[in-house]
Amino acid sequence: MKILNFGSLNIDLVYQVDHIARPGETIASSAHEVFAGGKGANQSAALALAGAEVFHAGQIGPEGQWLVDKLAGFGVNMMYTLTGETPTGHAIIQVDNQGQNSIVLFPGANKKISHSAIDSTLSHFAQGDTLLLQNEINGIDYLIAQGKERGFKVCFNPAPYGPEVLAYPLHFVDLLIVNETEARGLLGPAVPDQLIDRLAAAWPQAQIVLTLGEQGAHYSSAQERFYLPATPIDAVDTTGAGDTFIGYFLQGLIADMAPQVAMQRAITAAALCVAKPGAMDSIPTTTELI
Ligand code: RIB
Repeated sequence: MKILNFGSLNIDLVYQVDHIARPGETIASSAHEVFAGGKGANQSAALALAGAEVFHAGQIGPEGQWLVDKLAGFGVNMMYTLTGETPTGHAIIQVDNQGQNSIVLFPGANKKISHSAIDSTLSHFAQGDTLLLQNEINGIDYLIAQGKERGFKVCFNPAPYGPEVLAYPLHFVDLLIVNETEARGLLGPAVPDQLIDRLAAAWPQAQIVLTLGEQGAHYSSAQERFYLPATPIDAVDTTGAGDTFIGYFLQGLIADMAPQVAMQRAITAAALCVAKPGAMDSIPTTTELI
């Protein structure tokens, strides 16, 4: 059974700041680094580092080849990532003294993926394969519908959340992974305690994971429901923690781990990611988890 992650690849321009710039304010950064990122690419890297065989499909511009090489170095199969003329997507990321971030995205090539590229890539996968999606490329509604039609297990992380997500065919999604912001976007205002119940009621066909950062994570499916606390850690940079969680969790499920075991591993991996700067570069290997 193969895993296809159709998702973004970004060049992350990271600025260390005392605090996140306020409206109208100009601030100086104390450090600047360039990292590999993109929610899609980070999740592919995490899947591969966790031990999965993963194919990453997406699109870069001419200056993004190093992202492809880097992912290939992690063991991700990059044969379905195309290079076009539009510049590679990038993210301008402020990271403050508490490790919290604020991100501005330039989608670039991530939003130039053609239907024919989608169709041609999907044709190499078969019923029972897994399709993982985030919300940083174009064509997500089509990909979800096609994934369902072709009998794939469709996993969706609606990040970053935008109102367009509400028009996607979410009733075709088999595994929905959201954080608190995404859950509120999907459901409207709700008290934190009700979020997992309301997600489960809205999408009863799906396995649902609700991540709450320092507050841990909830899991709900037709079979079981549980909560696991987060691993306490001094945060250096939270960028990529959610992606690390998703890659490790999905790899665990595909390797037939019980959801609770897969989630515990994902929580540990996400905590280790938060302890280092950068997104893709801070995803731990399985040996670091022990
Ligand atoms: O989830 C973290 C990622 O979000 C960063 O790597 C950045 O590229 C943005 O897509």
